[in-house]
Amino acid sequence: MKLNIFANPNLLHEAAAQTIVRLLRQKPDAVLGLATGGTPVGIYEALTAAVRRREVSFARAASFNLDEYVGLPPDHPASYRYYMDQHLFRHIDIPPERTHIPDGCAADLERECERYDRLLQAAGRIDLMLLGLGHNGHIGFNEPGRALHSKTHVAILHPQTREANARFFRTPEEVPTRAITMGLGSIFSARTILLVVKGNDKADIVHRALTGPITTECPASLLQLHPRLVVMLDEGAAARIKCQTTQNAFHEPVDSTNGLW
Ligand code: F6R
Repeated sequence: MKLNIFANPNLLHEAAAQTIVRLLRQKPDAVLGLATGGTPVGIYEALTAAVRRREVSFARAASFNLDEYVGLPPDHPASYRYYMDQHLFRHIDIPPERTHIPDGCAADLERECERYDRLLQAAGRIDLMLLGLGHNGHIGFNEPGRALHSKTHVAILHPQTREANARFFRTPEEVPTRAITMGLGSIFSARTILLVVKGNDKADIVHRALTGPITTECPASLLQLHPRLVVMLDEGAAARIKCQTTQNAFHEPVDSTNGLW
């Protein structure tokens, strides 16, 4: 694991964006796994700026988003398709047909999950999977529980997840109860996983995920097993990790992603 701690969110956004820029420069047809939510907004802004400065092109890249709410059409302002279009896709040169997000309005959700897995397989391995972290340890919408799924599936959203995401809806009742999410197998097949976490409210779960026991009750704890995990935290999210870094050999001290690709 490479652990990077940043003094402020802007530095973190820029570093995460530059990790993607470096990958695309070396591998212009890279396959990216992308996340939504509050965390990546600044990263997508930094990527947009890099494209405007002509530092990088997404013209040959492909993307696969982690998840989509069941029942929200692409033009719903809280749908993840809408989010991606607003925050990234319409500002960069990625061909729309190479951006993939599960269809949460598919008539047959099981078939939609199978279709998404077929697309993932056909694309080959994801080169870089960008992940955020839920307060309950979820990654994608792989929620804590007694078992986890390897493949794309329909997930029942945890009450804590619906509560956390209510800020994107007019009323808490509007938050869908289900979502289609990539499974742990697809996430794990990525060559590199970039986990980005911000805010003091995530300090406990970051600590649990990165130093606690590996358990399905904290899906992000499985990331400890990934051979190429890059973690980027702001000071708030790192609050409980930092005090351990000097004592625990498991954590590398502040490091850079140089030489990753
Ligand atoms: C989003 C996703 C979720 C979020 C997580 C953190 O596509 O899959 O796992 O990454 O809920 O969300 P924020 O960044 O809003 O705190």
